[in-house]
Amino acid sequence: MKVLAINGSARKNGNTHILINRILEKLSAEGIKTQYIQFAGSFIKPCRACFACGKTGNCVQKDDIFQSVFENMKSSDGIILGSPVYSANISANMQAFLERSSVICDMNTGLLKHKIGTGIVSARRGGALNAVDAINHFFLNHEMFVVGSTYWNMAYGQMAGDVLKDTEALLNMDNIAENMIWLLKKIEQEER
Ligand SMILES: Cc1cc2nc3c(=O)[nH]c(=O)nc-3n(C[C@H](O)[C@H](O)[C@H](O)COP(=O)(O)O)c2cc1C
Repeated sequence: MKVLAINGSARKNGNTHILINRILEKLSAEGIKTQYIQFAGSFIKPCRACFACGKTGNCVQKDDIFQSVFENMKSSDGIILGSPVYSANISANMQAFLERSSVICDMNTGLLKHKIGTGIVSARRGGALNAVDAINHFFLNHEMFVVGSTYWNMAYGQMAGDVLKDTEALLNMDNIAENMIWLLKKIEQEER
């Protein structure tokens, strides 16, 4: 089983990174392969509504990292989408990524079917639930199973590292990891 994690933050190795890594470490310890991509330093272009992806199964725009990230998503069993909260929602890069991914999946039904997904966000104060919802809507709209936890999938902090003080959020991330591991193992047994 393989899990791909994508960090939509413009800040490399910041709060979202800390949360994602906490989950990935637990997955790795259980023998699950992990891959991690940070969007920081990259610009993900928005969908240009050409619908050419209906013929190719991937976006036809070639001038950013989207195509390779989407190929990795297709070959993963689990997907973690992490984003800081920007303007009470997900980051612009994550929004652009989801726009393009959504249209590809609409035009090529079943690409993400039966994969598992979890969305986690880092916020200073407001808009976190909105951002979690935006990510979950993407999963739900493409036949995926959403993995939850004991409380909302969010952590509070402003400067890089601040989320380490949000103990409740960190324990919540541990629980997300446990639930992902449980579900991935069930799916693996089913597919054998
Ligand atoms: C452009 C921008 C917009 C932001 N908008 C919000 C916001 O609407 N609500 C909020 O709580 N925090 C907001 N923040 C703060 C970040 O969500 C917060 O610092 C987060 O922990 C950053 O995570 P990162 O270190 O992974 O980038 C914003 C930060 C930036 C850079």
